[in-house]
Amino acid sequence: MYGLVLQKFEAFAESALGESWRQGRGEEPEIDLNKQYPDQVMHDLLSRYVALSGTTQKEALHVFGGYLAPQLVETGTFLGLMREEWGLFDLITHANERIHSVLKTSEPEMQPPEIRILRVSGGELRIYYDSARKLCPLLIGILNGLSNYFGESITLSEEHCMLEGDDFCAITIRSERAGQHVPGSLQDRLDFIQRVDGSLVLFNMYQGVPISFPAKVLETAGEGFTCTLHPFQVVALQHENSSHISSPLLPFSLYARVESLDLSRRTAIFSDLKRSHGAVGQRRFVRIIPDKAPKVTMRVGTHTIEGTLQELSLGGVQVGLDASIFADIESQVHLPMRAQFLLPVPHTKDTFQQLGVTCRMLRVIQEEDRVVLILVVTSMHSSFNAIVQHYVTQKQMDILNVLKEEAHGLGLMEV
Ligand code: HEM
Repeated sequence: MYGLVLQKFEAFAESALGESWRQGRGEEPEIDLNKQYPDQVMHDLLSRYVALSGTTQKEALHVFGGYLAPQLVETGTFLGLMREEWGLFDLITHANERIHSVLKTSEPEMQPPEIRILRVSGGELRIYYDSARKLCPLLIGILNGLSNYFGESITLSEEHCMLEGDDFCAITIRSERAGQHVPGSLQDRLDFIQRVDGSLVLFNMYQGVPISFPAKVLETAGEGFTCTLHPFQVVALQHENSSHISSPLLPFSLYARVESLDLSRRTAIFSDLKRSHGAVGQRRFVRIIPDKAPKVTMRVGTHTIEGTLQELSLGGVQVGLDASIFADIESQVHLPMRAQFLLPVPHTKDTFQQLGVTCRMLRVIQEEDRVVLILVVTSMHSSFNAIVQHYVTQKQMDILNVLKEEAHGLGLMEV
C-alpha cells in the first residue's frame, strides 16, 4: 500500500487511540509518503488497531475510510486533479481515469484498485471494485466519507463482495440530490447572467464532432430561458434536441432540453435544466462516428462478444452491445477490465482495414435496449496512430463542410 494511505492510517489511529497507539509503535521508521510498501505493512497496522480498539477489521476500515475521504479530496485538489464543479457522483465516476490513473502516471509504483462505474440512472451509480487487497470495507468507508464531505446523503447496498467469495465487489449508491432537477437558485443565476452580459457556451455533438459556440441569454422565464445561437449550433441542436451549457458564473455545467427552435431568429428556448454529469467539452481527442457501424468481435476475458463500433478517436473507441449479451457478461465475467479485438478503421468509402488493439474498459453505460462500452486503447498496431489520425481529421473536415451547407440551406448564415 502506498505511503500516503499508510501515513493517514497512522494519523487516524493516533487520533482515535492516543497514547496506547504511540506506545505500541516502538522505533519503527517513519513512513515515506511517496513510496510503495508491501501490503503486509497495512495489514500489520490494521491488526494492531483492531487489537487495541476492540473493533473488527471491517469496522476499522469503514471508520478509516470516512476519515480518509476528505483528505483524499484535499490531496486531489492540491494536485489539480479535482474540478470545482464536481459533485459526489462526478468524483466517484472519475476516480479511476481522472485520479488514480493520472497519479499512477507520475507515481508508477502506485497500485490503485480498479474501479468501474455504471450509471444506472441520474440518481443511482453502481460501483464495481476489483483489487487483490480486497479492501471493499475501505471503499465503503470512503464512499460514506465523501457523502458527508459533499453534504449529499446516500443509501448504499452491496450486491457482490470479494470477501464473500465473489470475484469482484458491486456496490450501488443512490442519491436523491444527484437525480434532482436544478434548484430554483440556478434560475436566479441565469437571471444574473442575463443581466451581466448574457454569455453562455453551448456544447453539442454533430456526427461525433464537438460543436461549441458562445450563445447569449435573451430572457429567462419559469424554469428555462431563451438564447441566440451560432448557425452551426442551430444545426447541431436540430439533431440533438438538447445541449450542455456552461458559464463561469454557473457552479457546474447544465444539461437542458430544447423546447423550441426558431430558425428565422436563430434562437432556442431551453427547459428542463439539470446538472450535467461528466466533463463537458473536456475530451482530449476528437471522436467521429463511422458512416456504417462496423461489427467488432471482441475477446473479453474468456468470452467472445459481438458489438458494433459506434465511435472512434485516437484515445479510444465506443462499442455498442445488445443489452441481452451484457446481462450474461456481467454475471459471468464481471465486466473484465481488458478487451482485445480487431478494430475496423475505414479505409476506402466502403471498406475497412482491421487493426489489432488491446483496450481497457473505462466505463459501461446502460441504455434502454443496449449497453455502451467506452474503451481506452492501451496497445495497438504501430500504424494505428497515423491511420486513425488521418481518418478522423478527414472525417471532421467533411462533417464541418456538411454542417456549413446545412446552415446555408436553412438560411441561417444570412440571419
Ligand atoms: C480524491 C482524490 C483521490 C486520491 C488523491 C486518491 C489516492 C489514492 C492513493 C494514493 C491510493 C493508494 C494506492 C496504492 O496503495 O498504491 C488510493 C487507494 C484507494 N483509493 Fe483512492 N484516491 C482518490 C479518490 C478515490 C475515490 C473517489 C475512491 C472511491 C470511489 C477511491 C478509492 C480507493 C480505494 C478503495 C483504495 C484502496 C486500494 C485498494 O483497494 O487496492 N479513491 N487512492
